[in-house]
Amino acid sequence: MRNIVAGNWKSNKLMVEARELMVAVYKGVSVDGLTDVILAPPAPFLSALVLEAPENKSISWAGQQCSGYEMGAYTGEFTASMLHSIGVCSVLIGHSERRDKFGESEEMVAMKLRSALDSGLTAILCCGENLGERESGGHFTRVMEQLKHALHGVSEKEMEDVVLAYEPIWAIGTGRTASADQAQEMHHAIREFIKENWGEMIAGNTRILYGGSCKPSNAGEIFAQPDVNGGLIGGAALSAADFLAIVDASDQSLRETH
Ligand code: PGA
Repeated sequence: MRNIVAGNWKSNKLMVEARELMVAVYKGVSVDGLTDVILAPPAPFLSALVLEAPENKSISWAGQQCSGYEMGAYTGEFTASMLHSIGVCSVLIGHSERRDKFGESEEMVAMKLRSALDSGLTAILCCGENLGERESGGHFTRVMEQLKHALHGVSEKEMEDVVLAYEPIWAIGTGRTASADQAQEMHHAIREFIKENWGEMIAGNTRILYGGSCKPSNAGEIFAQPDVNGGLIGGAALSAADFLAIVDASDQSLRETH
């Protein structure tokens, strides 16, 4: 199975800088690598970048979020179908910053995931506990609750278009990373949850990414874990050199296990 390394640029860069970053990433990603690279720039840049991007079958584009509603009178929103119509392949759903800073409830997250799947996009569903939940030992319960809500009613066939991203909130943008063991333990629990609900084959084929201060210096160790299938990268995705080093770490981890 191929890994995924996705760069979440969050609300960063102006158009000229976004284009420079795209060009540098495209230069560095080999077409026959073992990792699917996904770029999630700010929404205003998406259609220009998708059109300008050179051909590279290893790289595709993602939205950082989408509306949970159909087209209509929803000022400021954009639908998953709009993203799909400009050549975007996937969308982040339920990132903790959307949940915590923009009030996305479990119900909204589920609606957005449904819209993404109905529109033919791959949904990269984010989950993760905060520091209090981790310290009180409630992290597994929290993550499973998030998955239960968001994935309710998702069919076996649809699970082929779901990627999961475990992102402990206490590790996002803090420089503090989950240890490789903490990541593996949670990824394993997530895979077991998928197995219980959709069976062994789907569980084995679902890619589970780690996110939270992932950088060139720790990516190798995290990607070497058996249930980690790549990463969702924030800060380090803003530098082409760092991001490409993480893509290399992913390729390397797959070479070592094959
Ligand atoms: P970070 O962000 O790599 O800057 O911690 C990850 C994310 O929020 O997706």
